[in-house]
Amino acid sequence: MTNATQGQNAMTTYAKGLEGVIATDSKLSFIDGEKGILEYIGIPIGELASHSTFEETVFFLWNGRLPKKAELDAFVASIRARYEIPKGVEALLTTIPATAEPMHAIRTLVSALGLHDPKPNAIDVPTVREKALNILAQTPTLLAYFHRHRQGKPLVRPDSGKSLCENFLYMLNGAAPTPAMTKALDVCLVLHTDHGLNNSTFTTRVIISTESDLYSALTGAIGSLRGPLHGGANEGVMRMLNQIPSVAACESFIQDKLAKKDKIPGFGHRVYKAYDPRASHLKVLAKQLAQDTGNMDLFEKSSAIEAVMNREKAAKGIYPNVDFYSATTYHCIGLPLDLFTPMFVIGRVGGWSAHALEQLSNNRLYRPSVDYTGPHNVPYTPIDKR
Ligand code: ACO
Repeated sequence: MTNATQGQNAMTTYAKGLEGVIATDSKLSFIDGEKGILEYIGIPIGELASHSTFEETVFFLWNGRLPKKAELDAFVASIRARYEIPKGVEALLTTIPATAEPMHAIRTLVSALGLHDPKPNAIDVPTVREKALNILAQTPTLLAYFHRHRQGKPLVRPDSGKSLCENFLYMLNGAAPTPAMTKALDVCLVLHTDHGLNNSTFTTRVIISTESDLYSALTGAIGSLRGPLHGGANEGVMRMLNQIPSVAACESFIQDKLAKKDKIPGFGHRVYKAYDPRASHLKVLAKQLAQDTGNMDLFEKSSAIEAVMNREKAAKGIYPNVDFYSATTYHCIGLPLDLFTPMFVIGRVGGWSAHALEQLSNNRLYRPSVDYTGPHNVPYTPIDKR
């Protein structure tokens, strides 16, 4: 592969899957895949996970600096004031089949928010920030309402006295969560907010670069995130953990999969060739939550899988990614399996929006080239001669 930043030469650069190609510049997150470093605007992810909150992290990414106390209070208040969704979207939500997967539902519902925006197409940065704030505040409500609807339970209205995570768990379960569960979800969202030019963030930037609207960009991003090679892997991890009957059975299960060249969900990464720093943080969190909630079997199975992957030659250099220990974490928080990837959506709306804002403030349409490998100058065959 040649250097993709060489102006005209970029037209002749070829990298399948755009691997290693620099497609834009960004001040938002830095990843050193060799050293296992992730920073949001220079602050190591572990620092933010330990000391920040999801709301503060989003402010940070949208403004390029940490807020002062009054600024954070105002930002939090403006999120809390937006929890409720438009009545028309609520009506649409109740028509979604109970059998629909939450990722399909949330994709449709985020798109539907745009139908109730009087100016959906506005792309000036201040207006897009307002839209992003609405989507950030309302995505948890959409998910909680959909989950209640599919269970045939009455909707629980948002409580603007609660933080985004506490309010989400409250609307989902109809009961206030413990501070420990709220904190655990908050840490997960901080860890998931942004991650360089990952597939769904790239999707966001590609769509917004046509000067299309934020709803379209985030709807596309949700579609991208759903895939099992991207955000969908956390559900794959949980399915795998459920499939393995015991800690002792992990060894043969993983060996069999590796022998068949199957991918182990929650392992490997296009960028990280070292331990994903989000995974190391989640591992500690998952262990604590598993102890507190009587789910140590899940944590022990996860550790056993990691040990086999560490030891096996076929898996050398393939480490757990963010999805691996988030599966145990979400299970311990009490979330059903098919809400795992939607949790990623709630967090990543903050990062996708930050990238949309950054793209719009210095836009260049994405339009890569293709290496055409088909034939040329083929004569047209009339239909009766084919
Ligand atoms: N299990 C076993 N082997 C693996 C795994 C895995 N999880 N991941 C990669 N490998 C192997 C591949 O088989 C390949 O081996 P080979 O060279 O002998 O053929 C080699 O490592 C390189 O793998 P690629 O698939 O080419 O690497 P790529 O950069 O395309 O893939 C990806 C990254 C898609 C994340 C991959 O590791 C994978 O499919 N992992 C499982 C799904 C997953 O956990 N996705 C979540 C990623 S994090 C996120 O998006 C939030």
